[in-house]
Amino acid sequence: MTEHLLDVNNLVTSFRTADGNLTAVRGVSFSVEQGETLCIVGESGCGKSITSLSVMQLLPNGQIDNGSIQFDGKS
Ligand SMILES: Nc1ncnc2c1ncn2[C@@H]1O[C@H](COP(=O)(O)OP(=O)(O)OP(=O)(O)O)[C@@H](O)[C@H]1O
Ligand SMILES: [Mg+2]
Repeated sequence: MTEHLLDVNNLVTSFRTADGNLTAVRGVSFSVEQGETLCIVGESGCGKSITSLSVMQLLPNGQIDNGSIQFDGKS
């Protein structure tokens, strides 16, 4: 298996809201090599910020429901 600096596989992140469960990120996968810059582009609300905050473990609330995030070989 090829190891990248960052590996995000099938990331699913959701929020529990007063109106029910809101899945903000559904099955996102990407990898980044050392020294590489990855630009994530998409319409407003598609989940760019929540994907990034999930990777950095900086979610304000909300939870990671599925997937794996490996950085430098560590979960
Ligand atoms: N704290 C939160 N509680 C509930 N839902 C949230 C919360 N933060 C974001 N969301 C929802 O998660 C989804 C993804 O939001 P996100 O902020 O990741 O979008 P974005 O792609 O970064 O948009 P933008 O280009 O406007 O920055 C949206 O439906 C948003 O309303
Ligand atoms: Mg954003």
